Amino acid sequence: INLKPYNTFGVTAYAKYFAEVNTVDELLQVLNDTRFQKKIILGGGSNMLLTKDIDALVIHINLKGIEVVEETENSVFIKAKAGENWHEFVMYCLKNNIGGIENLSLIPGNVGTAPIQNIGAYGVELKDVFHSCEALNLHTGKIKNFDLKDCNFEYRSSVFKTTEKGNYIITNVTLRLTKKDHDINTGYGAIKEELSKMQVTHPTIKDISNAVIAIRQSKLPDPKELGNSGSFFKNPVVDKTTFTRFIKKQPGAPFYKLNENAYKIPAGWLIEQAGFKGKRFGDAGVHKQQALVLVNYGNATGGEILNLSKNIQEKVQDLFGIILEAEVNVL
Ligand code: EPU
Repeated sequence: INLKPYNTFGVTAYAKYFAEVNTVDELLQVLNDTRFQKKIILGGGSNMLLTKDIDALVIHINLKGIEVVEETENSVFIKAKAGENWHEFVMYCLKNNIGGIENLSLIPGNVGTAPIQNIGAYGVELKDVFHSCEALNLHTGKIKNFDLKDCNFEYRSSVFKTTEKGNYIITNVTLRLTKKDHDINTGYGAIKEELSKMQVTHPTIKDISNAVIAIRQSKLPDPKELGNSGSFFKNPVVDKTTFTRFIKKQPGAPFYKLNENAYKIPAGWLIEQAGFKGKRFGDAGVHKQQALVLVNYGNATGGEILNLSKNIQEKVQDLFGIILEAEVNVL
């Protein structure tokens, strides 16, 4: 089958076999099916670039369900299954006046893939509200519980992307959310600006969500209209020596100091300076409003998008001596 509807880049790639699983039992059955040797897991398809046909069984995780598992005076522990759409889950929480993930509104993808890259935006990362998740070990067929510590969350990274890469399928995620509006996070500059545009002085979680949605809609293309995978690269973090050399040559560049020996430089700025913003090569391009986002204007192949990403990496390295690392998984 054509995987075009299953990846937010909207590229065509054929899977030899395809299965959609709705329960953990179905998932186990499919995994144990010896007719298929190679198996590939597909979640929301929002963080991956398919560059060729897949000669394997593609398993689409469609586990659904949201459940409040515990409530205390201030907190709500809420468990969502892996196949729930992330943004719909955020909306469900807001409707029930549960806060903590409003800054993460409108992030494409599913609940089950959120921990893999520790999704983050506008001052909040998943790890800030994460309680635990359950994941199926592909080698033993057993479910293992991962708490916050087990996950080794870092900027756009976790144990599922590093030491345990390819070993687990996340089946559900439990977050520790809040019933009070006082925990809201308006630290990110763009949110403050948006709230003042909206003339909101005492923002509720719903206001934050609306502000984030407005900001995202103004900068980030809707995958339903224009294929994309959000930020294609990570924002590079460089050491002091590299940073000093860089900033001497680019005194106006934006940066964020993480500590004495770590500086984050916005990849979007580097790509824009390298002249790629808004450029189009066939049907592959760099988004007009956000240079960090690569887009598919319709019929780009994964290979074409990958080539564009490589050209960007080369040019940025030539110009600035900084290596851009892809955030998106290339398959
Ligand atoms: N910039 C430019 N030109 C551009 C884009 C950005 O010069 O075309 C510079 C500007 O100086 C701007 C700065 O980069 O102030 C930061 O831009 P922005 O606030 O748009 O955020 P970002 O660093 O480009 C990151 C995340 C986004 C997340 C936003 C908001 C990564 C890789 N990306 O982008 O996440 O929504 O911050 O928190 O960390 C994603 O991961 O898919 C994603 C969209």
